[in-house]
Amino acid sequence: MFPKAELEATARALVAPGKGILAADESTGTIKKRFDTIHLESTPETRRAYRELLFTTDGVEEFISGVILYDETIRQQAQDGTPLPQVLSRRGIIPGIKVDKGAKDLAGFPGEKVTEGLDGLRERLAEYRELGARFAKWRAVIDIGDGIPTRTCIMANAHALARYAALCQEAGLVPIVEPEVLMDGSHDIERCAEVTEATLRAVFGELYEARVYLEGTLLKPNMVIAGKKCPRQASTQEVAEATVRILRRAVPAAVPGIVFLSGGQSPVQATENLNAMNAMGSHPWELSFSYGRALQEPVLQAWRGDPANVAAAQQAFYHRARCNSAARYGKYTP
Ligand code: 13P
Repeated sequence: MFPKAELEATARALVAPGKGILAADESTGTIKKRFDTIHLESTPETRRAYRELLFTTDGVEEFISGVILYDETIRQQAQDGTPLPQVLSRRGIIPGIKVDKGAKDLAGFPGEKVTEGLDGLRERLAEYRELGARFAKWRAVIDIGDGIPTRTCIMANAHALARYAALCQEAGLVPIVEPEVLMDGSHDIERCAEVTEATLRAVFGELYEARVYLEGTLLKPNMVIAGKKCPRQASTQEVAEATVRILRRAVPAAVPGIVFLSGGQSPVQATENLNAMNAMGSHPWELSFSYGRALQEPVLQAWRGDPANVAAAQQAFYHRARCNSAARYGKYTP
């Protein structure tokens, strides 16, 4: 296993005061969906230009500790020929890499998924470290619906997350452990709380069985929130209180930080919810962000694929990053 002190130092740097993570690890299929919303063709070059725009935003290193990359991006170069991971690390931003191969149908369990990608992972992690990555991400997806999730689905995903995390630590990469309970659906906040607690307890049980060093990990969970189609949407204060209550029950204090996903919340909502949690007082772990859509939606809208809009798009990214940085201290004002 890699020196524990280094893993812990990286994990702590990723949740340094006032800083959080940009998730820019959309797979080729997902970034195409994002580009579709601005009627932009998704090609290796448009994807490269977009990621370069994000990574070269002036001053954003004050708020962004790390960026999660996709396999294609970690191999691409900026216009001046600098590899994109080096564009980040030169500015003190830690490059990370998405290493799962996506959520696939779980055989025998209609409507449920299990994340694939363990075969050959040891070799892929070694290569990503060579390319500059110092942390990784694996996303498991738990859907709420009639009779789901099942215990089988939760356990299969928790087990895969633990095997991934152990391999990462062996390779010198901090594993971000991401069990996402989806906010699609019409369930209420109580149901989300129940499923999130069961999922997190299973995940930390499996991490223990796999001998994962918790001080050298980060957790990336969903917030406890009502489903998008639920007629009763919870207030910011309710979301903050329910989320912290469940996390306190299920997440060991040895974990240095919890970096939330945004999961389809609006950019402002994701910032407000994080802010409310940090305004509650101090917690056993840093409460931070690892947002994809909530950091990028305004950037895409400002950019629209036009080089003339790069400065405006970077301004939008800087603004959202700064708002979320303020939310790290519970000091965000809209
Ligand atoms: P969202 O914040 O858009 O949910 O993306 C975060 C992420 O990395 C999902 O795996």
